[in-house]
Amino acid sequence: MKFFELAFVVAFVTKSGQCRDLWSADLPNVSSGVLEKGKPLRLEGNYSQVQISDINGTLYSDLLSQLHGVKELRIWRHHITEIEKGALCSSPSVKTIELDFYLDSEPITLSKDVFANCNNLEELILEFYGGLPKPVIIAPDAFENLPNLYLLAIQGHKITHLNERSLRKVNKQSLIHLTLSYCEIEEIDVNVFENFNNLEALYIINNRKLDHLPKNLFRNLSKLKILSLRGNNLQDLTWDEFEGLSSLKKLQISNNKISSFDADKIAAFLPHLESLNIENNPPKCKQKEAFVEELKRKLHHLVDVIYKFDPGFYDSCEQED
Ligand SMILES: *[C@@H]1O[C@H](CO)[C@@H](O)[C@H](O)[C@H]1NC(C)=O
Ligand SMILES: *[C@@H]1O[C@H](CO)[C@@H](O)[C@H](O)[C@H]1NC(C)=O
Ligand SMILES: *[C@@H]1O[C@H](CO)[C@@H](O)[C@H](O)[C@H]1NC(C)=O
Ligand SMILES: *[C@@H]1O[C@H](CO)[C@@H](O)[C@H](O)[C@H]1NC(C)=O
Repeated sequence: MKFFELAFVVAFVTKSGQCRDLWSADLPNVSSGVLEKGKPLRLEGNYSQVQISDINGTLYSDLLSQLHGVKELRIWRHHITEIEKGALCSSPSVKTIELDFYLDSEPITLSKDVFANCNNLEELILEFYGGLPKPVIIAPDAFENLPNLYLLAIQGHKITHLNERSLRKVNKQSLIHLTLSYCEIEEIDVNVFENFNNLEALYIINNRKLDHLPKNLFRNLSKLKILSLRGNNLQDLTWDEFEGLSSLKKLQISNNKISSFDADKIAAFLPHLESLNIENNPPKCKQKEAFVEELKRKLHHLVDVIYKFDPGFYDSCEQED
């Protein structure tokens, strides 16, 4: 296990395919203590990214209304007890919102009113740190009015059984990127992604009890380019699970318990695969190496394969097994 998989580091692959870290240290921090109605936050200077911390009480509907030009907003280390209708998106320029909850956060329900006015919102990141004693509830209608949402990332929120209800109000046509990490997913229904025809990146990661995938789970994801299933507990894959991923370029399936890899099926179902990570799965390094060689003979675009736990200068099995 690498450290960065334990920490909730927000790094996303954007529409243009670049990886970016959302929050760097030199961003302006706004801390304002107890909030008052009629006293919106103001910034000295023009910023496109702002992080707000240490705020207590009600997030009034006018609080963020003066953040002109701010596109990315992070609210963290807060003690918000209530969010007034439309408050989060009261600045129309905001396209990205990250909302973090901690052990000492107040219980709160994220309903569609919390996201009212968020018609322009494109990216929503919800992070829940380490088993909150007072649960934050994501209401079934929460994502109902987000017609332009293309990225949804939920980390640390218990889902257990991922089914149609879990995602039913998300706009399936606009969504391009979905991350569900540390969500304690154990079971996934076969039809969950059936209507997410435009999805290009899917991360179902760090769900330690997820040991199998239903066949046909991805069959309607013909535009998917990146699939990450790292850090689950996947075991007896038949590899038929991957049928339909005809555009997939990158598959990460490291840190699981997969005992066999089927080069014929992978080559048949993932004809455009360029990058594959299978490190930290039980087969011996030499077995993985043989599989990788066979797969590379069948898939000529496959150029980037990681199969050793700690690839050195030479990616061979000499130091292992
Ligand atoms: C913002 O807060 C973080 C965490 O406290 C700190 O590391 C960072 O240096 C702060 N940035 C500025 C510009 O003050
Ligand atoms: C905000 O709430 C926390 C937890 O209840 C408390 O420790 C802190 O002093 C409060 N801050 C202000 C400015 O009231
Ligand atoms: C912020 O941007 C606006 C519009 O681009 C400009 O009129 C204003 O002078 C800028 N303010 C500062 C403090 O740079
Ligand atoms: C999903 O794929 C299956 C098999 O290709 C097809 O029968 C079904 O109509 C597709 N569903 C949608 C919603 O596109």
